[in-house]
Amino acid sequence: MHTAFTALVGCSVPVQQAPMGAVSSPDLAVAVADAGGVGTVSGLGVPPAVLVRRLDGIRARTSGALAVNVVAPDVDGGLLTDVAERVRLVDFFWFDPSPRPVEFAHRAGALVNWQVGSLAEARAAVDAGCDVVTVQGVEAGGHVRGTTPLLPLLREVLDAVEVPVLAAGGISDGRALAAVVAAGAAGARIGTLFVATPESGAHPAYKQAVVDAGGDCTVVTGAFADCPLCATSPRARVLRATVDRLAEIDDDVVGTALMGRNRVPVPRGSGLPPLAGCEGHVDAMPMYAGATVGAVTRIRPAAEVLAELAAALGSS
Ligand SMILES: Cc1cc2nc3c(=O)[nH]c(=O)nc-3n(C[C@H](O)[C@H](O)[C@H](O)COP(=O)(O)O)c2cc1C
Repeated sequence: MHTAFTALVGCSVPVQQAPMGAVSSPDLAVAVADAGGVGTVSGLGVPPAVLVRRLDGIRARTSGALAVNVVAPDVDGGLLTDVAERVRLVDFFWFDPSPRPVEFAHRAGALVNWQVGSLAEARAAVDAGCDVVTVQGVEAGGHVRGTTPLLPLLREVLDAVEVPVLAAGGISDGRALAAVVAAGAAGARIGTLFVATPESGAHPAYKQAVVDAGGDCTVVTGAFADCPLCATSPRARVLRATVDRLAEIDDDVVGTALMGRNRVPVPRGSGLPPLAGCEGHVDAMPMYAGATVGAVTRIRPAAEVLAELAAALGSS
């Protein structure tokens, strides 16, 4: 289906796979981009030279649309230019929209998307020069910017801005995607559904927990506040069971994670989600998930997920 977003970005399915830290692995970005969506990688915690090399590696594997996510207000202009030259879309979140990072990305030839949690923030993103705004409802998995449910906020933003708007938060199947497009969105940004893919960087127990979760068994919490985003606002939606499990553990360290070739301790309350290679109490690490996690019922390839989402929109 063609929308203002697909026309602007040059993809064939109006879906951006959400940036999800190391859960949004290069393999996932390539699979989504190859299948016609926007594949996204995260710059969070990645040394600049590694990020640039990673983007070059991904670019060499797909001709599809790619995005890179930036969540730090003080990111160096040189790095912004380097990453923006390698992707179609630079994607900002968690700090107040301002023209400076947008201009760096534009000068390097990329479009800019800003994920927002309120109408005022959407207006500020457009005023800063953004080409796309992503409206994040409170249903979203991961760090939650605002407090308003998706549909009322989407309606308000659509009435107020002219740029293409993506909807994010609790879109876990084709029906939900079709509903936000029918409401006027130019597409959706989807996270939780892509956690449960073979390509994601999530620990197998995390993928299985997403599949096993029924109904809304998530909660917005500050329990995993040892993270750069929570430093300004400790609000993230996770599987509630991980908060309960954390409360049962007294140790200062809940497990270990693989960082390159090194195994490093994961402190109690760390914002690092359980990734492939993590050991220890992975069930007491934050399993970020959206409020409609119950709709995710299988682990299946990202291309299959994209094909089902596209089919729900028909061919218009
Ligand atoms: C595991 C996970 C990690 C996330 N990490 C980030 C991130 O690093 N940067 C970001 O902009 N958004 C992040 N998000 C939020 C997404 O951008 C998006 O708002 C959310 O996934 C949409 O809700 P859904 O998960 O119900 O689809 C994350 C979401 C999840 C599920």
